[in-house]
Amino acid sequence: MSLHSRLDSAYPLWYPIYMVKQFSWTKFAWNTWCVSSLIGIWPRFLEPYSLATSHLRLPIPNLPSDLNGLRILQFSDLHLQSNFPQWYLNKISKRINALKPDMIVFTGDFLNYAQLEQPERLTSFLKSLSARYGCYAILGNHDYAQYVSTNEAGDYDLGDAQTSFIKRGFRRLFSPPIHLSKKVTARAKNVGLHALLTELLEKTSFTLLHNETSLVPVKDSFLNLTGLGEHILGRCLPSQAFQNYNSSFPGIVLVHNPDAVSSLYSYPGELILCGHSHGYQINLPWLRHKLTALENKELARGLFQAHNKWIYVNRGIGGTMTFRWFSIPELSLFTLEAQS
Ligand SMILES: [Fe+2]
Repeated sequence: MSLHSRLDSAYPLWYPIYMVKQFSWTKFAWNTWCVSSLIGIWPRFLEPYSLATSHLRLPIPNLPSDLNGLRILQFSDLHLQSNFPQWYLNKISKRINALKPDMIVFTGDFLNYAQLEQPERLTSFLKSLSARYGCYAILGNHDYAQYVSTNEAGDYDLGDAQTSFIKRGFRRLFSPPIHLSKKVTARAKNVGLHALLTELLEKTSFTLLHNETSLVPVKDSFLNLTGLGEHILGRCLPSQAFQNYNSSFPGIVLVHNPDAVSSLYSYPGELILCGHSHGYQINLPWLRHKLTALENKELARGLFQAHNKWIYVNRGIGGTMTFRWFSIPELSLFTLEAQS
């Protein structure tokens, strides 16, 4: 193994950036600014590796007694890439296992720009997680064969994975706000599944739910777990996903993008879990809306209630850029409670 390949999988923060594979002057200038300005140290080097656990007890109407107290752990938006530190990955795994959840769900974006850079690392991380009623996952917009995002016209289209996130961030900062047309281009609709990622998931304990429902046995009862495809690829297909839903039992719905939530109001399910927005990631006035492309900008983080459903938008644990301001990476742990 070369020095580079050993180091770039988990180089420490102090490691000189110019020694890292895929060196970029833009990143170097950015990191130099972050280090040399007092302001930059927290969002660039500290907050992205902090990890908060949100505990939520949710009353659910008509909850079978066998599901009372069921604990479901949600994590989201891993965005695994070569500079994702191994110690942070270990910290996430250790924290999740220490919480001893009954079920683990992942709400999309295993990858960064559809690049499966380190399959062994992703496999071993996912294999390190376990829960007695299983681990389930859905795909995010970074997890299909090609990365899909928003184009200049505000349509959902193949994304620009070549330009660095720093350049893209500054470009968006100084351009007029994007008005999302909600249109998915033909080429975005034609993007297929990421064959290597779906194969990899089969080797782990995570079950991929792509527009389907799994009826999970819990003691002498059942819980519907419905996973949807990604909204901005036109793959969020609730009529297909809810076909096997058993309305005699409660249900949890997993959908990566909170903008898909309104299309789910007429379907069953007591709790909808989302990710995607990273809780705005740069959660500062003006900037938060400028940098986060959402149809419904209010549905970007935290707990909501609408149409007799709970909706939770998780802040995620990673990001395309290692930079967070007032949006600490998050694990969310839900305890289902019978409504009195
Ligand atoms: Fe994401």
